[in-house]
Amino acid sequence: MKEGLLLNRYIADFNSDEIEKEYHDVLVIGSGIAGVYTALEIPEEYDIAILTKETIEISNSVLAQGGIAVSLDKEDSPELHFKDTLYAGAGLCDEESVWVLVNEAADNIEKLLEYGVNFDRKKQGELAFGREAAHSKNRIIHAGDTTGKEVCDKLISVVRTRNNIKIKERTFAIDLITEDNKCKGILAYDEDTASKKLYLSNVVICATGGFGQLYSRTTNPEVATGDGICLAYRAGARLMDLEFIQFHPTVLYHPLNKSFLISEAVRGEGAILRNIHGKRFMPEYHELCELAPRDVVSRAIFQEMKKTGATNVFLDITFKDKEYLENRFPNIYKTCLSYGIDMAKDYIPVAPAEHYCMGGIRTDAFGRTGIEGFYACGETACTGIHGANRLASNSLLEGLVFGRKIGQEVSKILKDSGKRKFDISIKYSANRSEATVNADEVIRHIQKIMTEHVGIVRNREGLLLAKQEVGNYFDLIKNMKNSTLRDYEMQNIVLLATLIIESALEREESRGAHYRTDFNKTDDVNWKRNIIKKLEI
Ligand code: SIN
Repeated sequence: MKEGLLLNRYIADFNSDEIEKEYHDVLVIGSGIAGVYTALEIPEEYDIAILTKETIEISNSVLAQGGIAVSLDKEDSPELHFKDTLYAGAGLCDEESVWVLVNEAADNIEKLLEYGVNFDRKKQGELAFGREAAHSKNRIIHAGDTTGKEVCDKLISVVRTRNNIKIKERTFAIDLITEDNKCKGILAYDEDTASKKLYLSNVVICATGGFGQLYSRTTNPEVATGDGICLAYRAGARLMDLEFIQFHPTVLYHPLNKSFLISEAVRGEGAILRNIHGKRFMPEYHELCELAPRDVVSRAIFQEMKKTGATNVFLDITFKDKEYLENRFPNIYKTCLSYGIDMAKDYIPVAPAEHYCMGGIRTDAFGRTGIEGFYACGETACTGIHGANRLASNSLLEGLVFGRKIGQEVSKILKDSGKRKFDISIKYSANRSEATVNADEVIRHIQKIMTEHVGIVRNREGLLLAKQEVGNYFDLIKNMKNSTLRDYEMQNIVLLATLIIESALEREESRGAHYRTDFNKTDDVNWKRNIIKKLEI
């Protein structure tokens, strides 16, 4: 019997003989740290195209504030970083991949320094290490509170000097083209001409980031609609750990801005959480207080908000002076001030919001997905390093370490096989009906359902309700003729919501970021294992 949902293989019809085609040795989808760094790791003799849905500067990585975890301090070691990652991951980390992560971190940071990335340094010139939740040592290297921007800006500026890398902006990857489980390229949608185009290649690296846009409140940008994960699923790749979704505890809660992150580094500098009555509450929830793992802090805030009937709690760092805060957190200080909050004097209103998906396209330590020539890297991939809950500042690091490994693997394959320009002849059409729904409205409704029933705290009743409502949309749109970018995004959002809900229902226990009131204990006997979703095609 075939596993998985009944789906059309491609969400758009096409005839390869009738649309424009372009060949590249390698295609990278996504322009965040994972995509751009991986492209730079492939030798310059190969022709690479980076396809990106918006402009190259727009990605989730650019918004990363805190930094990158690396055990470079003399008090620290890869072993301690390994231990902390496993502790946060709540029993589900892939230990082999975590070893790769912690052991290869320093070499990749060295590479960033060679590319000219400026991390903050102490007076004596050594790298400055900050602290974030669940780290036993100070090991977060940072560039003020805009680390992602500093790293991405530098990497993009290097990419722009490489003649072998073409940047294809406003180019949306609709689907992965495969033949006999081998990668043949990408069916893309050119947003400026509203037309389809085929990018042919035997190597596609998927680095499209996460799917925060499945939720009403997220720190992710608007492009984060899970497109790469969905195209991989439709092509027959395995997805893993979709039920584990990280909610960042401290996201600004202001009528004019509900998505601006207040970095965990602020708690790393000693900030404390207070409920609306001014009472500090974290000591009642965990011995590490404000620096407990993220899932613990988010749930504690959720409970406090419920207890007090409030929409938010407060973050208090008023014991630090203005000069210090302006210097250490220039962007957060300035942004809060623009909303009338002086963090040197005022408590910052915050509430949790979706931040990161631990799950994604299952890969091994070389980014291989099981489809020949198709690799995944960064948030869109599931290397297993995060387990059920990601340790802070391990995500940019993951993009670097596994991006380099993919670069090495792809270089070897290209060297062995040589350049192999080819053509394809595929005609695909499904029985589709005209659109009867408004994509924006469907997406808004899915966001509401996911936030209410598939958020920080879940239970069977809510998940079944979500399954029913999302299922209705799934049936309504699965054979719909998609013609706009928003239609394609809606298809992906509805598919992904369906798979997440299925996974969350299946996991009848609480672990890491997946908390169920009806199964509120961790059940190692039955559930110390991963849930995989795969479509047989
Ligand atoms: C933060 O600065 O709090 C975010 C860092 C991360 O997500 O790892």
